[in-house]
Amino acid sequence: MCGIVGYIGYRKAVDILLEGLTSLEYRGYDSSGIAVNVDGKVQLYKAAGKLQNLKNIVEKNYADISKSTIGIGHIRWATHGAPTVENAHPHSCNCGKVAVVHNGIIENFKELKEKLEKNGCTFRSQTDTETIAHLIATKFGEVHDLTEAVRLATKEIEGAYAICVMHQDLKDTIVATRRNAPLVVGLGEGENYVASDVPALIQYTKKAIYLDENQIATLTPNSVDIIDIDKNPVEKKIETLPWEPVALSKMGYKHFMLKEIHEQPDVVRNVLSGKLRAIDENIILKEVTLDKETLKNLNRIQIVACGTSLHAAMVGKYIIEDFCGIAVDVEPSSEYIYRKTITDKNTLVIGVSQSGETADTITAVRQAKSKGSHILIVTNRPDSTMAREADSLIPVNAGIEVSVAATKSYMAQLISFYLLAIYMAEVKGINNLNELKHELIVLPQKIEKILAHKEDIQKCARKFANSKDFIFIARGINFPTALEGALKLKEISYINATGYTAGELKHGPIAMLDESMPVLSILMKGKVYDKILSNSEEAKARNARMIALTDSDDTKLNELFECIIRIPEICEILSPALAVVPLQLLAYYIAEFLGKDVDQPRNLAKSVTVE
Ligand code: F6R
Repeated sequence: MCGIVGYIGYRKAVDILLEGLTSLEYRGYDSSGIAVNVDGKVQLYKAAGKLQNLKNIVEKNYADISKSTIGIGHIRWATHGAPTVENAHPHSCNCGKVAVVHNGIIENFKELKEKLEKNGCTFRSQTDTETIAHLIATKFGEVHDLTEAVRLATKEIEGAYAICVMHQDLKDTIVATRRNAPLVVGLGEGENYVASDVPALIQYTKKAIYLDENQIATLTPNSVDIIDIDKNPVEKKIETLPWEPVALSKMGYKHFMLKEIHEQPDVVRNVLSGKLRAIDENIILKEVTLDKETLKNLNRIQIVACGTSLHAAMVGKYIIEDFCGIAVDVEPSSEYIYRKTITDKNTLVIGVSQSGETADTITAVRQAKSKGSHILIVTNRPDSTMAREADSLIPVNAGIEVSVAATKSYMAQLISFYLLAIYMAEVKGINNLNELKHELIVLPQKIEKILAHKEDIQKCARKFANSKDFIFIARGINFPTALEGALKLKEISYINATGYTAGELKHGPIAMLDESMPVLSILMKGKVYDKILSNSEEAKARNARMIALTDSDDTKLNELFECIIRIPEICEILSPALAVVPLQLLAYYIAEFLGKDVDQPRNLAKSVTVE
């Protein structure tokens, strides 16, 4: 969603702001802007659409803009008001001296706006953010201190925000604060940075301070001071940022998505490392701090997540129930939070999120926490807001994922669920999972085999790229794989794709089938293979164009299916981790063939920080 970058120091601020915003582009946005201080005057530059539009404007005025060694920048994902130049951040006050960028939503902005308008403030945009600029300017007029003005303003603001502010009269100060939205301060020598996410910083510094809720940071080139909302000084906890700048390079791949799909064998190895050491040794999962006795006696687990993470959670449910015999409910976080959920201290609640910043899931785990449940978070961002809510934290270690469509983080979540399920089974004294452990160890080689033959999937993608609709069918543990395959295709190619349990096809969706509707059957050898085969025949009888994704070498399939994507044989219970890879590639190649913006699909954001 939105992204913030701020810089203060001795270099050309504009270069750092634009580079920082470029590295946040992957989050999804629809307009952008910067504020700099040139010859004692705050100047705003904004553009609708892609960041390149802002870069073009900057280029024309570069000689002037590049004089500034202070600046704040923003990419906006529209919430209040259309993605226009007027609504793009930074926003300013009547006199134009204050510039503000903001991520999040101000819930009481209408009341604040009314009050501010009565006091003579003139609004130029439809955004909630502009109220912050006017409010801070009003407070500054009273106290003549930017940090104090921000502090007083935040006392009146309700909602979620990360804010960066500069004032024309203070050429060496940026003030930043946050509540329910992330913000990190990067530390340099004679220069300091602030950003809403690490990628904007890692090429400049590895030293950083993560601001906590309601803390206010005052940055100058040579200092960073932090206070809490009651003005008490806060001790700075300096941390080392987890990534190398190379994580933000495509490394020769055409898109980040393709690179990230190819990283999956190593992601699996990483997740397993140190946890699954040998087939005949128990899984080590020190991250789960729930004592073994409680774990053994758990009779209920709830998993909350959204989108792709929800699909990983569905596989998690299947295997925890299968291995451990514990009832597991999986629910989209956005539903969980608006009903009476039966949760208590005897329920383990698992929140799954690649970004760790998904507002619905954060709310869901907070609600469960307030009822006394142990909170286990599975996330790719151990530095995220959600991770900070965790009693137990499983960081999935997929490395930074730049493409908006989640691929390797899904793989890492899946493998983490397999480890968790085996760990819980072993705590309960169930020790019949050695074959699965072996399969986990050899999984990376099998994924590598699929990647080595990706041209076959590319050919299939070409054949079907012009379809307007798609159906994915599967049963059992691969039903979530069907949902995930369909989601990937929708997200990046905008083709209408739906996943169904194959048995449900004849209860309604079969009415849609004809020669214009491709049906992709996930046919992994095991309990439900024959059933899905029959369901596929039913679809074929309605003239649907059939694609198989299978680990079977049965030649009979050739008659039924127009296109067969064969993958290495794998035990059924682990097959979701292998079967998803060709589906990611299929979605990728279709989108690429159609010329879509693969890494930054329209309307989507990498972290969805609003409910
Ligand atoms: C799909 C995708 C989204 C996210 C969803 C939840 O490719 O990325 O569906 O999975 O928005 O996000 P997280 O996992 O960050 O909570």
